Amino acid sequence: MLTLGIETSCDETAAAVLRDEKVLSSIVSSQIDIHKKYGGVVPELASREHLKNLMPIIREALSAASVSLNDINLIAVTYTPGLIGALLVGVSAAKAIAYAQGIPFIGVHHGEGHILAAHIEYPGIGYPYIALLVSGGHTALYHVKGLGEYLLLGQTRDDAAGEAYDKVAKLMGLEYPGGPVLDKLAREGDPRAVKFPRGHLEGYDFSFSGLKTAVRNHIALFMSKDKGIDPKLNVRDVAASFQAAVVDTLVEKTMQAAAETGVDKIVVAGGVAANSLLRKRMDEEATKRGITLYLPGMFYCIDNAAMIALAGYLHYKRG
Ligand code: KG4
Ligand code: ZN
Repeated sequence: MLTLGIETSCDETAAAVLRDEKVLSSIVSSQIDIHKKYGGVVPELASREHLKNLMPIIREALSAASVSLNDINLIAVTYTPGLIGALLVGVSAAKAIAYAQGIPFIGVHHGEGHILAAHIEYPGIGYPYIALLVSGGHTALYHVKGLGEYLLLGQTRDDAAGEAYDKVAKLMGLEYPGGPVLDKLAREGDPRAVKFPRGHLEGYDFSFSGLKTAVRNHIALFMSKDKGIDPKLNVRDVAASFQAAVVDTLVEKTMQAAAETGVDKIVVAGGVAANSLLRKRMDEEATKRGITLYLPGMFYCIDNAAMIALAGYLHYKRG
């Protein structure tokens, strides 16, 4: 069975072809260069870019998989959450193709796609597991009991972790998206240089807005109206200290969830799962506790259509 997956929820136009659960092709076209100069994604520009790029990307995915549209048996597309205009482009295209080809159409939740991305590289993973979903739009912990059975243990009460990265980078005058830039700077900084607060909430909820404010207050000490940012501000140390605070909280709550549910498998998913410190710390802590950690490769952490196709296919197969 061949599934065509489509993803247009934010600033990546993506299409993928799967044969059953196997990825034959996965094409991602990023719009980052277009949005960079505005310091974030401009929704209307994103929709227009998707409109322009989606059909060529679908053709590229089909050709890379050496199949034609007539071979496709199922269309899966991200229908929520995301930028409404951007989603609309993908959903409309998917519905039109499904209707014209006379094949089934299935809408996929973007967050579920991110979680199931782990199954692409680890097909034998099985259930249950704890999933930490950390992206630009989500920060949540789930007890995944089976396909479609996601018990929400906790989530952020304000900013998502990726959003905090992007906003802090903006405060520091760095490029969008802030995650990869701060991650790189942090590697050369001292994580103990600035004592930023860890958002300690009861249970499994997260909070990053206090941390963001603390970074803003710290930077303000080095800012003047006429001269801008004082070069004495050590951006590497700030990046490293901020990153340590984010990662500490994410790792601590995830390990706590595994311990309290008695689940011995953890999946980390979403764009922030590409973070080098988060990957390292999760790995260390999981090993210490005898927990198996499933970290998707970078390509399947960021937005892509293979994860959407897989989620759609698995639901379809189950009826
Ligand atoms: O999953 P994703 O591609 O899109 C959403 O569904 O949001 O995640 C994008 C987010 C952005 O906020 C970006 O800054 C963050 O993931 N990100 C990172 C890293 N790479 C991407 N955050 C921290 N460290 C990284 N290396
Ligand atoms: Zn995403």
